[in-house]
Amino acid sequence: MKFFVDTADTAEIQDLAATGLLDGVTTNPSLIAKSGRDFMEVTKEICGMVDGPVSAEVVALDHETMLKEADVLRKIADNVCIKVPLTIDGLKTCKALTGEGTMVNVTLCFSANQALLAAKAGATFISPFIGRHDDNGFDGMELIEDIRLIYDNYDFSTEILAASIRHPVHVLESARIGADVATMPPAVIRGLFKHVLTDKGIEGFLADWQKTGQAILK
Ligand code: G3P
Repeated sequence: MKFFVDTADTAEIQDLAATGLLDGVTTNPSLIAKSGRDFMEVTKEICGMVDGPVSAEVVALDHETMLKEADVLRKIADNVCIKVPLTIDGLKTCKALTGEGTMVNVTLCFSANQALLAAKAGATFISPFIGRHDDNGFDGMELIEDIRLIYDNYDFSTEILAASIRHPVHVLESARIGADVATMPPAVIRGLFKHVLTDKGIEGFLADWQKTGQAILK
């Protein structure tokens, strides 16, 4: 499973990239606004921090303008992945861009039928929003399961990018189902490393080690 971080905070990206476990970055207009940075400038900086895809989202709603925006964004760096919303215009744009070899992440997916359409449009990634699905009384994990089943039925190569992840259990369930990618807020990635018994174990081992009076490094 690939791990993407869902943020435009470059300090966080730098820190997580240093673990060697980061495969890409996703941003959206809300995350860009939260960063307080210039969109083009921050996107370029992020593209230099990771080798993998960096999703940058168009804001136009019509196909022609989406294409024009995508053309500006894809010139930022080779690893830019254009993010488009799951609308008719978004999918028309997706088909045109992937046909030219540009990576596309289709976002705001809330149904398996929408994911089927995105795959037919040649999407590189489909982003089902688990947390927002749960928030509205639906089962986010069921959505991931349905998309996995459908993509496997037809051998679609579109990667399932589990998004709107709120906690480590969302990551665990997505991995069990076989989502290709999980994009997570920095705090969730950090949460994956943690276990109370790991901390307790280290504490116990170190206390006993000190009793030996030995050192590995002399
Ligand atoms: O980047 C899209 C997605 O991950 C947003 O998550 O928490 O705003 O629903 P959230």
